[in-house]
Amino acid sequence: MANLLITGGAGFIGSHTCLALLQEGHHLVVLDNFANSGPEALRRVAELAGLEGWNEPGDGFWSTADQRVILRRGDVRLRRDLDPLFASGSIDGVLHFAGLKAVAESIQQPLQYWDVNVNGTVSLLQAMEAGNCRTVVFSSSATLYGHAERVPIAEEAPIRPINPYGQTKAAVEQLLADVAGSHPDWRIARLRYFNPVGAHPSGRIGEDPQGTPSNIFPLISQVAMGHRPELEVFGSDWPTSDGTGVRDYIHVMDLAEGHGAALGLLLAEPPQLLTLNLGSGQGHSVLDLVNAFSTASGWSIPVRISARRPGDSAMSIADPGAAQRRMGWRTRRSLAEICRDGWAWQQANPRGYGA
Ligand code: NAD
Ligand code: UD1
Repeated sequence: MANLLITGGAGFIGSHTCLALLQEGHHLVVLDNFANSGPEALRRVAELAGLEGWNEPGDGFWSTADQRVILRRGDVRLRRDLDPLFASGSIDGVLHFAGLKAVAESIQQPLQYWDVNVNGTVSLLQAMEAGNCRTVVFSSSATLYGHAERVPIAEEAPIRPINPYGQTKAAVEQLLADVAGSHPDWRIARLRYFNPVGAHPSGRIGEDPQGTPSNIFPLISQVAMGHRPELEVFGSDWPTSDGTGVRDYIHVMDLAEGHGAALGLLLAEPPQLLTLNLGSGQGHSVLDLVNAFSTASGWSIPVRISARRPGDSAMSIADPGAAQRRMGWRTRRSLAEICRDGWAWQQANPRGYGA
């Protein structure tokens, strides 16, 4: 059992990881400013973990009766929000999800992205040093690889981000490498996610994008629900089996379990800087995903082929071999399960947590 700080834990990947960590017996303090989420996801996580008495004893502070989950509204950029969490010296490690993640928005608002993603990580690491806590798992992204020359993509592939969002992830990865070299006690994992999708099989927690989604999975779900007339398919002339883009879709619960495995390894082994892809190693085209979702939901998904989206690449598939070798982790859930669970979430929560 460890006491963990989870930044951005109310968000999509963070909330699912909180559930997996609770099921492993850990105690959690979550810090989130709700820029892209709200407290409801954590209330449901506590409920799924069988914890009782979720309440809000103070402004911007929630907890379960047994305090296994404490949620605080706060900003990862602000030392005044971070320092009290480390003051007692009881945090054993941090999982750092807090950040902004929309590629198109990052092109419009690079200052905001560098501020939250990079400055936010700098202040977190400063607070950790001050609190003598030197174990952190960071949410990196396969977006770092840009247009990779070869698939599957191994961790040694060149880092060539092609948009400001990717630049911020590359900058934080470098920052973490520098920090790892500065003190022998740092235990750091940089986890490069491929395409996280799906939801917990209960249908109680899932992805709740604010505004118009840009990623394919929530868009397909909304078409199946009848909230959108069709899915626009960005290009049918890619050099792939059916001409549509190929991605490595990973069930969010597989991803969540990957975090538990990485944390366990960091805590068990001597201090190190660990860099791992988290993906399935399987590629699926846009049309494969449409067909699988159609089967899972029982609804046909109308598609309209349009031009390639600027910045897209033909294929992105992980080489997940290092994660398997280092931590004995691999994905266990299929594309059919991804679609089944994503559809269960969408049907039960047609308007997300806000409904
Ligand atoms: P999300 O938006 O659902 O979760 C991020 C959480 O961080 C939200 O709850 C948000 O309110 C919070 N947050 C944002 N700014 C904050 C701040 N300044 N202080 C405190 N909290 C703040 O996104 P997600 O999909 O769960 O992604 C989690 C992490 O994984 C992000 O760092 C993202 O870049 C990375 N990632 C995501 C994907 C993906 O496809 N979802 C892929 C690769 C990497
Ligand atoms: C996008 C980001 C990437 C980020 C990832 C996860 C871009 C260029 N890349 O990756 O940096 O790490 O999300 O957040 O934005 N598609 C359609 N129609 C749609 C939407 C998508 O055909 O309406 C296709 C895309 O062309 C692609 C696939 O579906 O082939 C997956 O798209 P998406 O979910 O946006 O993820 P990525 O492009 O892999």
